[in-house]
Amino acid sequence: MRAFEEKIAKLEGSEDALALSSGMAAISSAILSVVKPGDRILSVKHVYPDTFRFFEIFLRKFGVSVDYIDGSNLATVEAALPGHSLFYLESPTSWIMEAHDVKALCERAKEAGVTTIIDNSWASPIFQNPIKLGCDIVVHSASKYISGHSDVVLV
Ligand SMILES: Cc1ncc(COP(=O)(O)O)c(C=O)c1O
Repeated sequence: MRAFEEKIAKLEGSEDALALSSGMAAISSAILSVVKPGDRILSVKHVYPDTFRFFEIFLRKFGVSVDYIDGSNLATVEAALPGHSLFYLESPTSWIMEAHDVKALCERAKEAGVTTIIDNSWASPIFQNPIKLGCDIVVHSASKYISGHSDVVLV
């Protein structure tokens, strides 16, 4: 397991990596490590459906609310960031495979003091390294391109 984590960290150019039992375990753990009751999350639209359900069904019960925004509109994101503790990105997004300017979005979030998490499953570390683009935390569903055969549930 540690060898896998070290490989992922190397591929993503991150300080370290943590392997969990599924993509949703990685997504929920990463988000819960950042937010507390009363916090607001800003999220791009068209995230993976179970991430959306985690936001709407689970987090709301614990007093965390989520606002959704068009990740392709930098000015709108910049204006919306203040007051949020987490900016959640997925690029390319689920459903419509919309690619966002991750570097510019993360720069704006950093300026606003907002932590960023990105689901990098669709790009894979081969095509996009969000840490190098200024993102704080990267999550993957490793049953996709990382395993390659849809026969494991990981990370
Ligand atoms: C973009 C994306 N993120 C996260 C997940 C969740 O991963 P897992 O099924 O390993 O929980 C999926 C699964 O389809 C996904 O497509």
